[in-house]
Amino acid sequence: MILSCLSLLVLLVSILQPVAAWFRLPCTTPVTEGRTDWISDPGRLPSQHVHTVQGGINFLPNTTYDILRQSTCTSCVAKEDLSNYWYPKLYFRDPKTGKLEQVPDGGLTVYYLFRGVDDKKNGGSGLKAFPNGLKMLTGDPLRRNREWERGNRSTQAALSEDAVEWLCRGTDIRSLNTAGGFPTIKCPQGLRAGLHFQSCWDGMNLDSPDHKSHVAYLSDLDNGKCPKTHPIPMPHLFFETFWATDKFDDRWEEKDGWPFVWSTGDTTGYGFHGDFGSGWDQELLQHVIDDCDSTPDQLNGVINACPLLTIQEIPEAQKCKTPILYSEDMVGPLGNLPGDNPIWPFTPQTPDHQL
Ligand SMILES: *[C@@H]1O[C@H](CO)[C@@H](O)[C@H](O)[C@H]1NC(C)=O
Ligand SMILES: *[C@@H]1O[C@H](CO)[C@@H](O)[C@H](O)[C@H]1NC(C)=O
Repeated sequence: MILSCLSLLVLLVSILQPVAAWFRLPCTTPVTEGRTDWISDPGRLPSQHVHTVQGGINFLPNTTYDILRQSTCTSCVAKEDLSNYWYPKLYFRDPKTGKLEQVPDGGLTVYYLFRGVDDKKNGGSGLKAFPNGLKMLTGDPLRRNREWERGNRSTQAALSEDAVEWLCRGTDIRSLNTAGGFPTIKCPQGLRAGLHFQSCWDGMNLDSPDHKSHVAYLSDLDNGKCPKTHPIPMPHLFFETFWATDKFDDRWEEKDGWPFVWSTGDTTGYGFHGDFGSGWDQELLQHVIDDCDSTPDQLNGVINACPLLTIQEIPEAQKCKTPILYSEDMVGPLGNLPGDNPIWPFTPQTPDHQL
């Protein structure tokens, strides 16, 4: 499952933008799973909801940049990148029994996209590497509906709603990008859930109380300009996650509603979110941005084309596992979500949530 997803070359809609360079960082099996969150819930064990976690092995309740840099391995393929990447787990709620079962995780690919008017290829002065210790959160775990009209990108709040996207795999292209809410139909090849991150920095703060206000989205989310308040342009991160929802297709009916729920208790999908804690050495990442921006493979985003990075074999990356700090049944069938997070009441989705 993981291997087949990693080998998929899923084209982002926006790679059709001119002269965009980028690379794709495939991650393998999660470095850990569970209720730890060193950005939103530092020092707490267990944290509020269970996550799928990729990257550096030192994913601990009290992780700091220095601790992360001491990681001895990563579950993703570039050995120099010790960053952590994490997002909630998905559960199937059996309509007959009400019990919850974990949806098999089909893997994560992190896209490093060099975008926006400040990128050299677009005539700008060049993107800047993530400062050492940068942390950020995209999306909002508490969001349960859409407030801004689709495609209205006039504010950061509106951009943040567009930062979540879905692909109901194996269906018509029209189910691409419901811009916030879960699909409502069966996805014969499973669900792809995407997350765009902020690519502009205020130049001062590595974090902020909401883990967002020190960074900002580009004016077109994955292209355009940085706001004046956040003038430092950085690479654009995009998480592409896969979920084997199709495994449950014979156990639910579309007329009864979408039966999948995030580990936060969110049944709407609007609350999908992701975290990034940079574990890069800033100087090295700057070289990668400057020197791997014009590799011959840039159109395919093949990471192996960048000679500055050591690419490990997938079986080696899969051996990287954080010791389990808090043990609980996350697989199910379970009566309640881990942490007993209440499940949001089912709200039928209005047609404008679909293209
Ligand atoms: C995190 O660090 C604090 C302060 O040193 C400590 O009290 C706490 O026990 C640590 N938490 C965990 C889960 O290790
Ligand atoms: C975006 O939405 C706001 C609030 O509804 C509205 O005032 C504004 O005109 C909209 N902008 C665009 C470009 O649609």
